[in-house]
Parts: sequence; structure tokens; C-alpha cells
Amino acid sequence: MRKKNEYLLGTNEAELERLRFQHWVWKKITDNFFDRVGVKEGWKCLDAGSGPGFTSMDLRDRVGTNGEVTALEPSEFYLNFLRGESSAKGWTNIDVIQGRAEEADLPQRHFDFIFVRWVIAFVPDPEKFLKHLVAALRPGGIIALQDYWYEGLSLYPRGTSFDGMPDLVRAYYRAGGGDPYITGKVPELLRKLKVRVTDFKPNQLAGGPQSDAWAWAGRFFTGHLPAMVQKGIVTQQGADAILHDWSTQQNNQDALFFSPIVVDIAGELSA
Ligand SMILES: C[S@@+](CC[C@H](N)C(=O)[O-])C[C@H]1O[C@@H](n2cnc3c(N)ncnc32)[C@H](O)[C@@H]1O
Repeated sequence: MRKKNEYLLGTNEAELERLRFQHWVWKKITDNFFDRVGVKEGWKCLDAGSGPGFTSMDLRDRVGTNGEVTALEPSEFYLNFLRGESSAKGWTNIDVIQGRAEEADLPQRHFDFIFVRWVIAFVPDPEKFLKHLVAALRPGGIIALQDYWYEGLSLYPRGTSFDGMPDLVRAYYRAGGGDPYITGKVPELLRKLKVRVTDFKPNQLAGGPQSDAWAWAGRFFTGHLPAMVQKGIVTQQGADAILHDWSTQQNNQDALFFSPIVVDIAGELSA
């Protein structure tokens, strides 16, 4: 049973490894977003909902020894992983704050850059979440988010039980108090906080059974369908049918998987 405020997808070794692989599969897209934002040496960055800190470490590579990176994350398990990685690299300018973005004690008007990847879709009150984060941004600073517009998830050939998967995942997010279409709402929320949106770009991955995109999706479905059954979102029979169709298509060299859309959103806080 998930406790109140507990992260929907869990904080454990298996989820950490899934997040590591996910980071690798989507890295080009996130790196391209950091390039467009123009993350610079010396910047002070906050990685909100950092998980194990894979993007915190990428940001540390960009800001160098004169910058600083703060990872904000509720899970001690993930923060301990980041502490270990950071000390193995001999870094002294990665800081961690344990807590939720809505309540964390953050320095005010401090950060040049706040990054939030795959977090806001899980948050029950995104307005409160963003308001607290934007207060930590210096005037002229940039906040950037990457998250789902949960459309596009599909499998070719059509007509298998997998066609029902998008509805199940959307229901799974909603069952945790989140919103699978949050990226449609974020520009409006940012505007109300005096953040001018400067970049809004949808991204999608696709590929056959041997592709990274396929492997990424397979890890999510096999890892999370049991939880969907437990929550009553799908029957055991329904979940078995999806897994069966997924593995059958894995042997079809002409099958194609399309990921859901992930949107890059960046905005600048008015001076
Ligand atoms: C899907 S993971 C993404 C981790 C990381 N941002 C990445 O892209 O690899 C979502 C993370 O958000 C964290 N999280 C959930 N709700 C949060 C909140 N209200 N404030 C801060 N972090 C939160 C979870 O603990 C989890 O580590």
C-alpha cells in the first residue's frame, strides 16, 4: 500500500535501475534541451525531484567547479546514491536537500536554473509546486521542465490488447493524484508566476523490437503492470494479455513502438 505523498513509481533498487536506463535512452533529448537553454559554467542549478541524480550529474558536468548543483528529492535512498556517486568523482559542489518541492526550505531568488524532469505529472497541486520553485529562481533565471503530454503511445501492428495501454497509464497517473496532460497546463501556470515561456518543444521516440525505445517501454510495462493490477486499473487477465501481445510483437521484425510525447518547456522569470 502506498503511503500518503509517497512517489507513485516507488523508490527502490529496481526503480533506480529503470531510471538509469531511462536517463540513457532520453539523454540526447535532455542534452539538446540543456544546449538550447544554454546552461553555462558557473551557474547555480536546482534539480527538483532529482531521483538518483542522473541529470544533477550532467548539470554538474556543464557548470564545472565554479558552479553549484542542488538536488532536491524526497527519497533518502536516491539521495544516498547521488552522495556516493558525487564523492567517488571527488565533487564538492553537489548539495542535496531531502524533501518535497512544495515545502522544502529553499534559498529565495537564488538559482540561475531550475530543472524538473518527470516530476510535475505526479504532483497533486502543480500550482503550489511551481510557485515554491519559482520563488527560488533569481529574476532573469530560467525554469525548465520535461514531462508528458500522454498521447502518441502506440504499437504497430494495431489491433492488439496493447491499444488499451495509453488509457491504463493515464489512469495509473491519475490514481496517484497526478495529471498525464500536465504539460498543456504548465505554460498558463508559469505565465501567472511571471515566467515568460521561451521554448516549447514536443519530442517522441520510436523504434522496432531491437531499439532502445522498445527496451525502455518494456521495462516500464513489465515493472508497473503488476501495480496497475493491484490498484484495480486493469484485471490480471488484461495485464497478461498486454504482456503476451508485447512479447509476441518483440519477435516481429516489422513491429514498431511509438513513445508518448515528452514536452520540453523553458521560461524566464521577469526581472
Ligand atoms: C520519474 S522520477 C524522475 C527522476 C529524475 N528527475 C529523472 O529525470 O531521472 C520522479 C522523482 O520525483 C520525485 N518526486 C515526487 N514528488 C515530488 C515532489 N512533490 N517534490 C520533489 N520531488 C518529487 C520522486 O521521489 C522521484 O524521485
